[in-house]
Amino acid sequence: MKQISILGCGWLGRALAKRLLEKGYAINGSVRSEAKSNTLKALGISPYVIQIENTGIAGAIKSFVTDTDILITAFPPGLGRNPDADYAARIKHVLTSISSLSNCKLLHLSSIGVFGASQGEVDETTAPRPTTAVGNQLLEAENAVSQLGSNATIVRLGGLVGDGRHPVKQLAGKTGLPAPLAPTNLVHQADVVSFLTALIEGDFWGHTFHCVSPMHQKRAAFYTHECKENELEPPQFLSEKNDRNKKVLDTKSAELFGFEYKLAGCHFKDF
Ligand SMILES: NC(=O)c1ccc[n+]([C@@H]2O[C@H](COP(=O)([O-])OP(=O)(O)OC[C@H]3O[C@@H](n4cnc5c(N)ncnc54)[C@H](OP(=O)(O)O)[C@@H]3O)[C@@H](O)[C@H]2O)c1
Repeated sequence: MKQISILGCGWLGRALAKRLLEKGYAINGSVRSEAKSNTLKALGISPYVIQIENTGIAGAIKSFVTDTDILITAFPPGLGRNPDADYAARIKHVLTSISSLSNCKLLHLSSIGVFGASQGEVDETTAPRPTTAVGNQLLEAENAVSQLGSNATIVRLGGLVGDGRHPVKQLAGKTGLPAPLAPTNLVHQADVVSFLTALIEGDFWGHTFHCVSPMHQKRAAFYTHECKENELEPPQFLSEKNDRNKKVLDTKSAELFGFEYKLAGCHFKDF
C-alpha cells in the first residue's frame, strides 16, 4: 500500500484524500490546528498539525514525511491574508524536509498565476512572465521544485470551482468590473481530483502540467450567464479595452494519460 502525505489538507486536499482513500492509499493530512485535525481523523486520514512559516516548519514534519511515497504540497501562497508570507521560502523548507528521502516523490500544486495576465495563449512550453508578487513567488517555488528533476511533478491549477466554491459568489451584483473579454481559466474540483489521481496512478514524474478546463468562455458572458442560472444579480463590466488576455491551455494530459475534463461545457453546475 502506498503512503501519500498531503501538506495542506484543506478544500482540495480533503477531496483528493477521499478519492485516494477509496483507492486504497494510506493518507497523512496536515492542517494548522488541533480542532481541524479531528475532521481529518473522522475521514480516515492520519492527522498532523503542521505550520510552514517563512523561517521554518513547526510541527511533526519528520514523521509526516517518513515512509511517504508521495508528498503533495497543497497549501496556498497566502499573500492575500499575509503580504509578508514568503511562499518560495516555505516551499524550500518543505524541500529540505524530504532532501534525505530518495524514494519520496513530490507533487507540487502550483497555479496558473505564474503567468502574467497579458501573456496571451500559454501552454506548458511557455516561459512564465509573472507580473505580481504572488506570481513571482509561485515561479521561484516552482524553480526550486524543478531541481528535484524526475522526483517531482508540478501541476499548475486554474481557478478552482465546485463543492460550494464559485467566483460568481464574489462577482454577483458588482459594477465596474474590468476585462469583459478576457478568457476564463477555471477548473472544477472533481476534474482536479481525477487529474491528480490519474497522474499518481500513471507515475508521471518529472513533468509540468496545466490543469485547466478547456472551456475558456469570455468573462462577462460566462459570469452573466452563471448569475442568471443561479438567480443572482448579474455583474456589470466596463466596456473599455483591457489587455488581459491570458488563456491557459492544457496540451499534455490528454496526450500523456488520456485525460478528459468532464466539466468542459458552457457552465459549471454544482456550486
Ligand atoms: N483556490 C484556487 O483557485 C487555486 C488556484 C490555483 C492553485 N491553487 C492551489 O491549490 C492548492 C489547494 O488550495 P485550496 O483551495 O484547497 O486551499 P485551502 O482550502 O485554503 O486549504 C489550504 C490548506 O493548507 C493549510 N495551510 C495553509 N497555509 C499553511 C501554512 N503556511 N502551513 C501549513 N499549512 C497551511 C490549511 O490549513 P488549515 O486547514 O488549518 O487552515 C489548509 O488545510 C494550493 O496549493 C493552492 O495554491 C488554488
